[in-house]
Formats: sequence, structure tokens, C-alpha cells
Amino acid sequence: MTGTLGQDKQLDDVTLDQLRQLVGLVEHDESKDPFPVRAMDAVVFVAGNATQTAWFYQVAFGMRLVAYSGPETGNRDHKSFVLKSGSARFVINGGVAPDSPLHDHHRKHGDGVVDLALEVADVDRCVEHARAQGATVLEEPNDVSDENGTIRRAAIATYGETRHTLIDRSRYTGPYLPGYVAKESTIPARKRVFQAIDHCVGNVELGRMDYWVEFYNRVMGFVNMAEFVGDDIATEYSALMSKVVSNGNHRVKFPLNEPAVAKKKSQIDEYLEFYDGAGCQHIALATNDIIATVNTMREAGVEFLDTPDSYYDDPELRARIGEVRVPIEVLKEHRILVDRDEDGYLLQIFTKPIGDRPTVFYELIERHGSLGFGKGNFKALFEAIEREQDRRGNL
Ligand SMILES: [Fe+2]
Repeated sequence: MTGTLGQDKQLDDVTLDQLRQLVGLVEHDESKDPFPVRAMDAVVFVAGNATQTAWFYQVAFGMRLVAYSGPETGNRDHKSFVLKSGSARFVINGGVAPDSPLHDHHRKHGDGVVDLALEVADVDRCVEHARAQGATVLEEPNDVSDENGTIRRAAIATYGETRHTLIDRSRYTGPYLPGYVAKESTIPARKRVFQAIDHCVGNVELGRMDYWVEFYNRVMGFVNMAEFVGDDIATEYSALMSKVVSNGNHRVKFPLNEPAVAKKKSQIDEYLEFYDGAGCQHIALATNDIIATVNTMREAGVEFLDTPDSYYDDPELRARIGEVRVPIEVLKEHRILVDRDEDGYLLQIFTKPIGDRPTVFYELIERHGSLGFGKGNFKALFEAIEREQDRRGNL
């Protein structure tokens, strides 16, 4: 157990050993890392109605409200709800004041991710390195304090209007950040359905994927993981390219997608059109029991992408995946995808977009040794996505 997982044992009862299995950690020597990242600190969203979005994540995703900032706490601009599930933290922001800048962001992008905040041990060292490598520093390193201590923070720009806030919270004991108060949910406790964030995917414009891969390599010392190019993820009508970067121990993984030229509009183009630019496409949530997770979320009304029967009946699938924890018949019943590589296997499933625009969605992932992202499932998955895209008239 490390201190990086937070203080609250009740909510943060995910050990480092469990995380190793859940998100596929590898050994890493931080001393040679120019930009050592310990973990995702938070995924920060702007929502058109943060009050109801926070409710959704509690009821449908089993998250617990832990902290709050808003008019009642002296924040006249917006409401901010902090939710946790295991080691994962989401922050949902929504404008209250009519002239809140959050409304401008929402007008342009709709509900979406504004900040993939990272926990780092040395904010100044990271910013110094990033600046020397040409990064845009949006917020200079600064201390913010209240009666619970001090956090040191800064922020650098990434794709679109997304940022990485860098936070050192080692001198802070409050529920989130200075200015936030602890707050408990008024919703009866739900079953926890996921324990950690596995990866956060960015969609970028045509021809920009390699630029951002290089950005993460050079500016943030991230390493390259699996690579998907061309036919692997091309379907008849649409295609994309994807590369994956991660911090040294793979705790923080950022796949980056760009559209590839195809007969019809790529699903990445659909995202870029409706988000009005580059942004975070999906967040993968790690669970150790994907069947229970999917059952709980379906009972709460979450809709998942369908997978054709042909996917499960294909004799090649059975040959490819071998023995897995769950019989194929059960995977088929729940429409869960399975993939195997040289290190092990993984189970995964994708939700439909959770907001009004066809932009942000979620993945659930249960890893058993595999460090991959379901490469073998990309084609089957995208055919399913395209059926939905076609129904919206956007294919
Ligand atoms: Fe994913």
C-alpha cells in the first residue's frame, strides 16, 4: 500500500498488488524519469447540469460523493462534486453564475473532460522539464492552502482544450482541494462496481496522432505501448489509427486516436465534429468482476454496445482466446468482449455515449495479465459502433 492512494481506507481500499493486476503495472525506475507521474489524480468534467450528472455517477456507476464546492461554500461561480470509486476520482463541474466560463466551454463542447489531472511528487521539476520541451504552461506552480494543509499545483496544455493539472498533495489532508468541504451522499450506498481508472483515450485531428505521441514522449517522458495501425482497426466504412503512451509503470495510460481515411465518416470524425475539436473520447474503468459490474450498471439503466452473435460463434475466437475465467456462453449473454495476447487475456465492454452528443463513453475492463487494449476486438467493436452511428444518421 502506498501513500499515493489517499488516506480514506474505506474508499481507497485498493492495494498496490490489486492495482498491479487491475491495470497491469510494470516495474519502473523513477530516478531516471524526467517527469515522474505517480497516478491519475482526477478526471475533471464540465457538465451542463453537474447536480444531476453527479447523481448519475452515484446511481449508475456506484461512485460515492466525498467532497463539494459551490455557492454554499463561497464558490459563487460553479458547483463541483467530487466522487470516488476505489482509487478513481471524478470531479463534476457545472456553472452556476450566468457568466461562468464553464457555460462557454459547455456551449462549445457539451459534457466532456476538461482536465486529466495527474499526481506528481515534484510539480516544479515536472513544469521545468515540460517548459524546456516547449509545453504550454497554463498555470505556474503555486501553493494553495486551507486549514487542512497545502497542495502545490500547476497545469500544462494537451490536445484540444484539455489540460493536465499537476498536483502534489503530500502536505494536504483535506477531502480534495483547498476550498472543498467533505460531503456525504444523500443517495443510499450502492455497490462499488469499479476500483481504478485503467486508461483515458484522446481523439485528435487527422494527422495529429504522431504529434501528440511525440509530445507525451518528449514533454512528459511517457513510453510507447501497443500500436494499432491500418487494417487492424479498419472496417468497411470507417477506420482509425491509434497509439498508446503511458507513464513509466503503466499506471497512467493514454491511447491517442486519429481518423483514418475510409469510404465513409470515421467514428473519430463524428466525435471531432460533435465535440468541436480534439478531446477525451473514453475512460476505461478497471474491475475485478466485469460480470457483476455490467449486471449492476445494466440494472441502473446504463446501455452498452451490442456485439453480434457471430462474434461469439466464430470458431476462430474460441481458438484465439483459449481458457478464460468466464465461459463463452456467459460472455455472450452479457455481450462482453475477450482478447488474448502473449501476456494473458482481458475482458472488456463499452457503453453507449453517456451524454446528448455522440462523444464521451466508458469502457469496463478486467485484466488477467494482458497489458493490451483489446486489439483483436477492435474490428468487432467498431462494426457495432457503426451500427449505432448509422442509426443517428452520421455514417
Ligand atoms: Fe479503451
